[in-house]
Amino acid sequence: MRATKIVTFAGSTRTGSYSAALSALAAKEIALLEAEPVHLSLADYALPIYDGDCETREGVPENAKRLHGQLVAADGVFVVTPEYNAGFPPLLKNAIDWVSRVRGQGDAFGGPAWAIGCTSPGALGGYRASQMLRQSLALGLNCLILGEQAMVANASQAFDEAGNFKDDKQTARLRGVLKKLIELSALRAGLRA
Ligand SMILES: Cc1cc2nc3c(=O)[nH]c(=O)nc-3n(C[C@H](O)[C@H](O)[C@H](O)COP(=O)(O)O)c2cc1C
Repeated sequence: MRATKIVTFAGSTRTGSYSAALSALAAKEIALLEAEPVHLSLADYALPIYDGDCETREGVPENAKRLHGQLVAADGVFVVTPEYNAGFPPLLKNAIDWVSRVRGQGDAFGGPAWAIGCTSPGALGGYRASQMLRQSLALGLNCLILGEQAMVANASQAFDEAGNFKDDKQTARLRGVLKKLIELSALRAGLRA
């Protein structure tokens, strides 16, 4: 039986991004849990700001179709958001909006199971951004999303130089969320009874 395939990506392409660090660490943990990680960066899927006239004129950009293809091919998705003004950032919203415009090539949102991660250098860990992202994915796009999520507060202090958590409890929490995501993804994909 093939391994359960989990895509991870973050809503930031900033050098030194905490969200990208969590996404990369999740990919490492997914491999340790014997699933197949596919770690993506939105930097490789550059997109113009969504504009209906642009879509009418030129259709959905190739990069949105490529990203859509990656999500359709996944059994599960772990998406990590930073927090901008108590919401999730335009980079992530724009990518989701464009991908939602791809038609007839599989269901990028309703197909895989989803789990959310969030980070912030502040004390709330990006919780407010995660709630807004959850609303968009669940209510807007019919995603099945784990209730549990991986939140990293005080993110500037959380990671060591190798990109692992300094605190073992944080590693255990992330591992717990990913284990459930892998189980749910495998069940939905018919990889496990
Ligand atoms: C426009 C903007 C708004 C922000 N608003 C918040 C906020 O509401 N809550 C918060 O915890 N951090 C906020 N921050 C700080 C970000 O959490 C911080 O820049 C973080 O490093 C961004 O995520 P990244 O490290 O993944 O790039 C904001 C940053 C920017 C640029």
